[in-house]
Amino acid sequence: MSNLEEVSHRVKETNASKVVNENFNLNITISKLKRNTHALSKNYDVKKYLDSNKFTFSPEISELIPKDTPPYIDNGEMYVERIARAMAFFKQCALIGPSGTGKTHIVYFVAELAGLPLWEINCGLQTSVFDLFGRYVGLGKENWIDGLITLWCRHGGILYLDEANMMKQDIATRLNPILDQRGHMVLTEKDNEIIQRHNDAFLIISMNPVSSEFAGTKPINAAMRRRMSVWLNFDYMSVGNKIDEKEIDLLEKKTGIDRKNAERIIRIGAELRERYKRGELPYGPSIGDLINWAKLVSDGTALKSAGEETIIALTSDDPEIQEIVRKIVHKNADSL
Ligand SMILES: Nc1ncnc2c1ncn2[C@@H]1O[C@H](COP(=O)(O)OP(=O)(O)OP(=O)(O)O)[C@@H](O)[C@H]1O
Ligand SMILES: [Mg+2]
Repeated sequence: MSNLEEVSHRVKETNASKVVNENFNLNITISKLKRNTHALSKNYDVKKYLDSNKFTFSPEISELIPKDTPPYIDNGEMYVERIARAMAFFKQCALIGPSGTGKTHIVYFVAELAGLPLWEINCGLQTSVFDLFGRYVGLGKENWIDGLITLWCRHGGILYLDEANMMKQDIATRLNPILDQRGHMVLTEKDNEIIQRHNDAFLIISMNPVSSEFAGTKPINAAMRRRMSVWLNFDYMSVGNKIDEKEIDLLEKKTGIDRKNAERIIRIGAELRERYKRGELPYGPSIGDLINWAKLVSDGTALKSAGEETIIALTSDDPEIQEIVRKIVHKNADSL
């Protein structure tokens, strides 16, 4: 899980329905949060596509609008605008890219800029149909609790399905009819209640690319693939021999590290990413991971020891894999 996901105070996964339902029962009125995204939003033309004044959400779910998301570093790809456009035109889109390329980050960022509540589900986790669609609790058939997807369908916002290709078949099958732009869902468990998809209910799915390079990935199911109109590809700024000077600049700017060490870290990161893409390592470092490493170096720790505490331990617990990473770190730390 990324830092971003950890630090943001959000109602998540299975307890989201519980919390939101409790809020509804207790009738807590959360006034529209004062959000200070104005300064940020003028850098991105999101309003052109998504106008928060036109959204119709109940105030209770405005607490699900992300706050204080760090800016997304864009390398000229205009991802923010392209996602906003896809949502305005088609209500949904897919993000494809290796781990750590900022897919989750940008979803939070777009949700914050557009003023959209965010419902997040990691499909790789063992979340049950009950958690996602709903169930009766207690005795009898009086107390129904909506699951996360049901809440989204009723109340709107962005449903973010992370690792969508890992979704279990029983959930995918139930989800498909809702994914039609004007779709609806049928709660078979609840006397076949039909719920129309809220007018401002958007969907973003993300996944790792399916290729022989990525061990363990599988293709997304065809029914869901057909319902996605826009596919955006994400990749690392530097990978293998392709070193992006802008990523070195970024490291310098963010941490105050000297240029030589910034360059070393990016080179090491690029090599680790390539090996991850080839399936030789279980993880490839994100720009955020490299920034953490650079912060320790900038604070006076030697490159190699700072690497032990960050990138080497982060890649794996397995001593053999750590040794592979350590060799790459040492080789590059002594060069240049
Ligand atoms: N372009 C970017 N701008 C700013 N931060 C970024 C960018 N790309 C990645 N990061 C940072 O890198 C870390 C990993 O990003 P994130 O969790 O969004 O990746 P992901 O693509 O969702 O990965 P996964 O496939 O593992 O879920 C986060 O701390 C994120 O803030
Ligand atoms: Mg993610």
